[in-house]
Amino acid sequence: MGFKALCFGLLCVSFLSYIYTPMPDNIEETWKVMALDAIAKTCNLVATLCDTIGIMKYEDVLVIFTSVHFTKPFSDENITVIDTDFSDIPVRLYLPKRKSERKRPAVIFIHGGAFVLGSYKISAYDDLNRWTANKLDAVVVGIDYRLAPKHPFPAALEDCVHVTKFFLQENILAKYRVDPSRICIMGDSSGGTLAATVTQLLQNDPKCKDKIKAQALMYPGLQSLDTLLPSHQEYQHGPILTREMIIKLACLYLTEDKVLPQAVLRNEHMPTESRHLFKFVNWSHFLPEKYKKNHVYTEPVLGKLNVSYPVLVDSRLSPLIVNDSQLQSLPLTYIVTCEHDLLRDDSLIYISRLRNVGVKVTHEHIEKGVHGALSFTTAPVFLNLGVKIREKYINWLEENL
Ligand SMILES: *[C@@H]1O[C@H](CO)[C@@H](O)[C@H](O)[C@H]1NC(C)=O
Ligand SMILES: *[C@@H]1O[C@H](CO)[C@@H](O)[C@H](O)[C@H]1NC(C)=O
Ligand SMILES: *[C@@H]1O[C@H](CO)[C@@H](O)[C@H](O)[C@H]1NC(C)=O
Ligand SMILES: *[C@@H]1O[C@H](CO)[C@@H](O)[C@H](O)[C@H]1NC(C)=O
Repeated sequence: MGFKALCFGLLCVSFLSYIYTPMPDNIEETWKVMALDAIAKTCNLVATLCDTIGIMKYEDVLVIFTSVHFTKPFSDENITVIDTDFSDIPVRLYLPKRKSERKRPAVIFIHGGAFVLGSYKISAYDDLNRWTANKLDAVVVGIDYRLAPKHPFPAALEDCVHVTKFFLQENILAKYRVDPSRICIMGDSSGGTLAATVTQLLQNDPKCKDKIKAQALMYPGLQSLDTLLPSHQEYQHGPILTREMIIKLACLYLTEDKVLPQAVLRNEHMPTESRHLFKFVNWSHFLPEKYKKNHVYTEPVLGKLNVSYPVLVDSRLSPLIVNDSQLQSLPLTYIVTCEHDLLRDDSLIYISRLRNVGVKVTHEHIEKGVHGALSFTTAPVFLNLGVKIREKYINWLEENL
């Protein structure tokens, strides 16, 4: 009992110290974001402590925290919701009940969580998908791909590709009365990374080419070559997502080896033979002037790491490192960026590169936004910002899908 009280006391103290972390002054709903930021950092601290003491692994503690908001599939007056599987991978389907003459559009939804956390079961995602199905009269497919570190790269991606290809089969689309010419892939954060990669892979596969009408990427991470882009530096301490947290978690997708995250933190993880790839992520070429501020481009140090991770040069991890000819056939793209988000510049670079080769991109920049806002649309962590992004996204789908 004494020990528990002590732990609780320590948590309160750490929460209070985090809550006084200064915030950028133009953030919307400042107090709520400060509270969320303090919660995220306290969870991170607890997880780190448990891992250090040896009670439980860092990621397992975070899995417990994020599973609190899991929902069961429940149908309502408008939507039938079922958990099933597509080619042995768990999916949650949202099927509109109302009769319609026309075939329906469809959205394939890939959740975020740094490849380690999360599920379509999270209440905010369940809400988003139900909302999408209802507003658009669309079929929505949420994918529970395998998570790291138990299932490292490319397990998550393979599952998303399998589900998408399974769903795209003529007989399956017919079964759910989906219009094959109105299918969108959507993902947030690391789900956005996966959505971008699935779209690239399908578009470069003759059997699947042009079957995806649109991709919607919500504040995705799109590369792991340079981890000191201006936004990575400016927002390294959050709000909500910190550079240390994202690197620690995302590295688990590649390896449980502790050497890699340390090298990535120093931005000294890439091998010498990757030099030719840096032109694809050079922020000094692709970032709009406004975001360069007084940052000075420095070449990352290569060849310091004596262990080789071939995945670091794999475009299935970093969709930004494909060449222009692979980008130019990509479908209509919707990208949301948030100003106060360390992953912001990944998207800004992707937008420049896509537009340079003529891909049609709708860019929604949320000036007062923070990372992960779409996950904060249900009690007790409710941000108006999340609802606003959701509405903008649904409106875009209504007009474009
Ligand atoms: C069902 O759809 C109607 C019309 O869009 C809406 O007013 C109602 O709130 C929906 N019900 C639920 C449970 O979402
Ligand atoms: C990146 O851009 C800077 C400034 O334009 C340039 O000096 C540098 O050589 C570029 N590096 C790569 C790898 O493209
Ligand atoms: C790699 O480098 C680390 C120190 O940077 C060293 O401890 C380790 O022994 C090296 N491993 C190999 C295989 O050379
Ligand atoms: C682009 O990359 C693809 C795949 O790596 C390659 O086949 C193609 O030749 C490259 N095109 C150009 C113009 O470099």
